[in-house]
Amino acid sequence: MILETVRLRLRPVTVSDVDALVALDNDPQVMRFVSGGAPTPREVIEGWVLPRAEAERRAHRTGMWAATDRRTDHFRGWFALRTPRHSHRPEVELSYRLQREHWGRGLATEAAHALLTMSFRELGAERVFAGTMAANTASRRVMEKIGMRLSAIHLCDDDVVFGSGAGEVEYELLRSHWETTTMSWSSGQRARGLPPNPPPQGPRHAVAGLTA
Ligand SMILES: CC(C)(COP(=O)(O)OP(=O)(O)OC[C@H]1O[C@@H](n2cnc3c(N)ncnc32)[C@H](O)[C@@H]1OP(=O)(O)O)[C@@H](O)C(=O)NCCC(=O)NCCS
Repeated sequence: MILETVRLRLRPVTVSDVDALVALDNDPQVMRFVSGGAPTPREVIEGWVLPRAEAERRAHRTGMWAATDRRTDHFRGWFALRTPRHSHRPEVELSYRLQREHWGRGLATEAAHALLTMSFRELGAERVFAGTMAANTASRRVMEKIGMRLSAIHLCDDDVVFGSGAGEVEYELLRSHWETTTMSWSSGQRARGLPPNPPPQGPRHAVAGLTA
């Protein structure tokens, strides 16, 4: 499935993205809260990351999307939805990684919002969740901006003693909450037989299009 947001195109990753993915994970700042700054070896991307994404795509229509600039087609990073292997409920895990030069422009929020919407609308998810290091403020802020709520905190010993922020946090959005917050006011009025209202305001980061 291809998604388009205001500024990005999200398409399933392919082998043509290997160089860009290797370069992205070669930036210690990008990897700071992922691996402590260590790069991901090319063999891991070729032999594990891409095959797993393809398997996810085929089995669940989830997986990993390369995010490219809609205007220039340049690679900006990736976004992923993963189906937890041992989960007994329809839920997906959201994750993302962008090139450092493009941080702070709202791109992660824009694309994460599009995938969140797709998860509930197209994939039938009952819950979308995301996790990161407690100290990863930018990532946590993205989760908050797309409407997720803090659902779990996993402290490590250093956190308890020194407040190091090395623990992990999990955020989630449940379908019931998503439906409540996205339900248009006008549809409630129509249900009671009142005249239609003007079209509701769209979300801040609208999904411009979905292509199967
Ligand atoms: C997490 C990441 C994808 C965010 O991308 P982005 O496009 O910069 O995100 P956005 O611009 O949509 O939003 C970032 C928010 O965090 C805020 N932020 C960033 N760094 C911050 C900091 N150190 N302290 C406080 N807020 C911070 C920004 O101000 C912005 O919030 P605002 O819109 O309220 O001002 C990007 O930083 C990244 O790729 N990081 C490396 C990989 C990673 O950590 N991935 C997630 C962990 S698994």
